[in-house]
Amino acid sequence: MKELLHLRRCDSTQTVARRFGSDGWSLVWSDRQTEGRGRGSRRWISEAGGLYFTLRYPSDTFDVPAPLQTIGAALLWVRVLNRSLDGELDPGIKWPNDLLLRGRKLGGLLGESHGDALLLGIGINVNNTFQDQEGLRHPPISLREATGETHSRRALLFNWVSAWLRAAEMHDHADLFASDEIEERLRTLGKYVRTERSRGRATGLAPDGGLVLETNRGTRTVHAGDVVEVPYG
Ligand code: BTN
Repeated sequence: MKELLHLRRCDSTQTVARRFGSDGWSLVWSDRQTEGRGRGSRRWISEAGGLYFTLRYPSDTFDVPAPLQTIGAALLWVRVLNRSLDGELDPGIKWPNDLLLRGRKLGGLLGESHGDALLLGIGINVNNTFQDQEGLRHPPISLREATGETHSRRALLFNWVSAWLRAAEMHDHADLFASDEIEERLRTLGKYVRTERSRGRATGLAPDGGLVLETNRGTRTVHAGDVVEVPYG
């Protein structure tokens, strides 16, 4: 890692990472964010106790499309959490890039490109607690709420980043982006979902990270937007 910045507070680690870091790898980690961002211009509430960071790296590091990298990063979180907690929890992935635990949102990933760099922003609910959960489809949950114990954000960050760096160095990181392990963890599969333009049953992950839907007009692959579970038909 070329540059590492740990802040008490910032607007958004995505914004800081745009200014900070050059050609190589850099990491911006903040204890809080005042303007944390989620996908689709949503806010990402970033109170103390959560893990909020952006990893910036050259976009030619992995030879797979950026959306698939984000899903691979989510899969790596599933592995790291299972290893750190001895398989006590069974986190899953909601396409395209949410981490779910017991149907609640444990974390989220945001991939953005910036010149020749990718900015992979990740928020994990570790020791934080929440207010105002009313009306949310997937209300948040933290590791502390799920396990009754406090967890080290630093250890989780270290474990995930070192595994991601190892994958980047190995050049043979196919297993991280292999659809079978991702599909095993993809809670969206088998469900009837709607997106902005399509509606159908989610049946698989496309090679570029898209979601394959069986619709009544045939097979469609969705590449962006939210998927919402709907009743059958
Ligand atoms: C989502 O689920 O919509 C993605 C959430 C991504 C949140 C992380 S927290 C660190 C980084 N900085 C941000 O402002 N957002 C990402």
